[in-house]
Amino acid sequence: MASLKTGLYLGVCLSAWIITSADENFVPKAENVRWVSVDFTTILHWTTTASDYKYTVLYTGNEDFWMESFHCIQMSETACDLSTEVKTNSTYNVKIKTVAATEDDDYDNELDKFPHSYSPPFNPFRETNISAVNFTVQVVDESRVNVTITDPLSGIHEGEKQLSLRDIFKSELKYKISYYKFGSTGKRDIISDSSTAEVSELNAGQSYCFMVAAFIPTRPKSTQQGAWSAQTCIPGDELSLGAWVGAVVILLTFVVIVVTVIVLCCKCCQQNNPSQSSTPV
Ligand SMILES: *[C@@H]1O[C@H](CO)[C@@H](O)[C@H](O)[C@H]1NC(C)=O
Ligand SMILES: *[C@@H]1O[C@H](CO)[C@@H](O)[C@H](O)[C@H]1NC(C)=O
Ligand SMILES: *[C@@H]1O[C@H](CO)[C@@H](O)[C@H](O)[C@H]1NC(C)=O
Ligand SMILES: *[C@@H]1O[C@H](CO)[C@@H](O)[C@H](O)[C@H]1NC(C)=O
Repeated sequence: MASLKTGLYLGVCLSAWIITSADENFVPKAENVRWVSVDFTTILHWTTTASDYKYTVLYTGNEDFWMESFHCIQMSETACDLSTEVKTNSTYNVKIKTVAATEDDDYDNELDKFPHSYSPPFNPFRETNISAVNFTVQVVDESRVNVTITDPLSGIHEGEKQLSLRDIFKSELKYKISYYKFGSTGKRDIISDSSTAEVSELNAGQSYCFMVAAFIPTRPKSTQQGAWSAQTCIPGDELSLGAWVGAVVILLTFVVIVVTVIVLCCKCCQQNNPSQSSTPV
């Protein structure tokens, strides 16, 4: 790590020296280097102000040396898919070297003649965003349902197999199930350790709505929870639908009565007031 740091400082000094000493052949650095990562599909983005340069991306995990990225060597695009390289539970740093488009031999590039930029550190296990999950709800009996969640697939392949988030996070992957009685505002959350969960103690005959998000409590607070899924509702039975309609009818009737009474009262007052004032005391 010490030599990495020294390298870093050396790089910064060199870049500074190049920029200050050789402004007639100014070489642009990659700017605004940022990670965009969802379900372990990890892409590094940057911006550039010149078009006649190419970029080579190097990365390091816990190692003491830089490795050239497989896909992003002397490229003119300003994004690099690092999903196949940045995939273990470690913190990665990336260096983007600017290389001249016309540069044939690597000699000058090896000497770090051209400037380079560094990415912010990134650990996919802690920081990749988790997308919304798909799930189904099956009614077991009048007070219980089963929620079955499909573990999202990741951008990481192991041989032929595309790993799911369950393959990667194992028991650290949990799901947050949020549900509420249709028409009420009170929500309840439960945490499920597995991809199938039973939700019990539901009111018989009631309609309920469910939403699910991946939840990884071992991650930092800001990235613990994945995106919320769309909601899925189960219908209540006809009786309670009837009761609901009945409640609305009663409420409407009540409102009509109150309005009528108010209107009648006002009319009364308007009729009474003039007669009162005109009556001599
Ligand atoms: C994750 O999503 C948040 C919110 O959309 C965004 O600000 C952040 O940059 C994303 N992180 C990564 C690594 O893509
Ligand atoms: C959820 O299902 C839809 C349609 O079947 C699919 O397009 C989408 O990729 C799935 N999402 C996840 C995270 O599995
Ligand atoms: C509901 O889930 C429980 C426990 O996960 C399981 O034993 C049961 O077979 C499931 N029932 C249905 C109808 O899927
Ligand atoms: C990733 O590393 C952190 C810190 O070493 C550890 O707490 C966590 O359990 C690891 N996660 C997985 C899924 O291996």
